[in-house]
Amino acid sequence: MMEQKGTTKDQGSISRRDLLRGAGAIAAGGAFAAAGGTTLVGMAEASKQAGGAIYPWKYAKIDPDKAAMVAYNNWYRNFCSYGAASGIIVPQRELVGGPWNSFPLMALKFGEGGVEGWGTLCGCLLGGSVAISLAAGHDGKPMINDLMQWYSETMQPVFKPKKPRARFKSKTVSGSPLCHISVGKWMKAEGKSLGSAERRDRCARLTASVSYKIATMLNDWADGKYKPSYTNKQSAVGITTQNNCTGCHGSDVPSPI
Ligand code: HEC
Repeated sequence: MMEQKGTTKDQGSISRRDLLRGAGAIAAGGAFAAAGGTTLVGMAEASKQAGGAIYPWKYAKIDPDKAAMVAYNNWYRNFCSYGAASGIIVPQRELVGGPWNSFPLMALKFGEGGVEGWGTLCGCLLGGSVAISLAAGHDGKPMINDLMQWYSETMQPVFKPKKPRARFKSKTVSGSPLCHISVGKWMKAEGKSLGSAERRDRCARLTASVSYKIATMLNDWADGKYKPSYTNKQSAVGITTQNNCTGCHGSDVPSPI
């Protein structure tokens, strides 16, 4: 039962070896020794609680610029949701391997255009949040909150690659995590259509910006120095929402009950 060197190329299933690696187990003298207090029984229990697999996965700190460039280039392959997740997951495959190799990035492609063009949650936030969840588990909640708020309140896109595939002038604040509003405000400012090279590059850069931001948050979290900063408090208004009610409702904001 010695652990073999090399990584699995299997995209469909998580092998036992992946599970053991993901949980940080080490092979010693033909037997699996417990690392960091993790035992096979402990892992089986954790797996049961996580719905049948190990969760979260071991995270190694990554260069945010690398995360951004992977995301940028992958936008041009399979768009925002795939791209933002890949900015974190592809470097993890290289540094950690194990379960990260088994994640089918293509399963996130549907997030494009705010889920298959419906303009709901921006795909970068969807795919990016999956990556946060895989890396940080329940610790990911404040990071996802911070990501949503930062995305909405910042002049975007923040990231500019050294050799952009298209040039444009506008940066815009979406005031919203919704694809429809985010893309729409930028298109209005720049005067470019949805199918234009400029709009496409804007979304590729925004995807890169999101992976960059996630890498900085996860790196801080890995160092034990991550501090949440979000202020959106849905519970205070008694409805699932973003907080800028008047942006959509005008002055006549309805009350939930
Ligand atoms: C991104 C845009 C957007 C934001 C931001 C937003 N809403 Fe809405 N909300 C809507 C739309 C659109 C509807 C559906 C309205 C309709 O069909 O008449 C709606 C419906 C509602 C409803 C259901 C009752 C009704 O009159 O339709 C309530 C209650 C509500 N919103 C409260 C809020 C509150 C409180 C906030 C801020 C904390 C908020 N909304 C922020 C877009 C928004």
